[in-house]
Amino acid sequence: MSPAATRPTLDQIRSQFPALASSTVFFENAGGSQVPQVVADAIRDYLLDSYVNLGAGYAESRRATQTVDEAHDFVNLFMNGTGTGKVILGSSSSGLIRMLADCYAEVLQPGDEIVIGQSGHEANIGPWVRLERMGVRVRFWNLDRTTQSQPICELEELLNERTKIVAFVHVSNLLGEVVDVADIARRAHHVGARVVVDGVAYAPHHAIDVAAWDVDWYVYSTYKVFGPHMAALYGRADAIAELTGPNHFFIPCDYVPGKFELGCISHEGCAGLLALGDYLAFLAGTPGQPVTRETVTAAFEVAASYERPLQARLLDYLSRQPGVRIVGPAHGGPERVATISFVHDRVSPPEISAACDAAGIGMRHGHMYAYRLCEGLGIAPDPGVIRVSMAHYNTPDEVERLIAVLDGVLG
Ligand SMILES: Cc1ncc(COP(=O)(O)O)c(C=O)c1O
Repeated sequence: MSPAATRPTLDQIRSQFPALASSTVFFENAGGSQVPQVVADAIRDYLLDSYVNLGAGYAESRRATQTVDEAHDFVNLFMNGTGTGKVILGSSSSGLIRMLADCYAEVLQPGDEIVIGQSGHEANIGPWVRLERMGVRVRFWNLDRTTQSQPICELEELLNERTKIVAFVHVSNLLGEVVDVADIARRAHHVGARVVVDGVAYAPHHAIDVAAWDVDWYVYSTYKVFGPHMAALYGRADAIAELTGPNHFFIPCDYVPGKFELGCISHEGCAGLLALGDYLAFLAGTPGQPVTRETVTAAFEVAASYERPLQARLLDYLSRQPGVRIVGPAHGGPERVATISFVHDRVSPPEISAACDAAGIGMRHGHMYAYRLCEGLGIAPDPGVIRVSMAHYNTPDEVERLIAVLDGVLG
């Protein structure tokens, strides 16, 4: 934050999000966040003012084209990829990673190897496992059940000159632990492999920095970061150049991101993405000012400053409850985000979520598509875990409301 900027109060933050006026406690942010008014307004305005196809010469089409182009540039700035790579937009992270894996299917050879982190969401596992059909060898980087993380020494043992891709999650959507992306990328690059990082559960909490981490591919879902139901895939320029892309034969190979965006993306969603910049400027304490990289980092510092106490309070409470097993790190701090999962030795996840539902607290239980992670930890994917996922706009009072419900159901 610049010295002149002041952190907005929690009330000011919440007033930006119309949905937060309801009495529901939104604790399922890892499933999807709420949107600020500016984002919703921009989507509506686009639909009413510029809802035409791109690339023609008339005014509305020029406006629409500019919105879509600027949205790509904004998301690239958001990820700190300006100058090193490009952003490809799509409808979901699952779809974008599947598209990417299909592109790699054209260049990988039988005998090539892919290393996959077991703690990932299936979105960054299944598409790579499918490539086994063409003779690619898939090797899992498994979890250690005791530490609940993937030991880096195990990765070292899996990497060799045949490794072409290392696919892993930056933050597991169950564990909440932040892994050292830059370190993993460096080790993968050492053997000439590309990294494909799932940043979906990281992106709502901290500023993405693809340049600092030196990643080849990084994906996140914009609908979990206060934006429209879309997703973004950053590709480093040299990684992009190796692939053809799924688009039609007459689309030039150097037409990026067009060669990867088959058909239309959501143009109105692009308007919403762009408007998120205004919200970030507000959060950073610089409303109305141009959105720069500093705006993005300052906004996430503010977000993290509001999340940390919520996380600490809930972890502290859970760690004192007999019978509770926190799934993921039991301590707060920078190596964790406010996505907190747990199981109880007597009360089942469905019973706990039913009590929360009845109290107007929106959260859920399940494996959340981190199916293999649950198996690796010895947790039955069905019913899975209870997950409470908080965002910067949640309040200490909401955490107390949850704790009161948990007291009742676990007590
Ligand atoms: C960690 C993680 N990766 C990937 C995904 C899939 O995202 P999408 O719904 O955009 O396909 C999710 C969705 O919950 C997720 O939490």
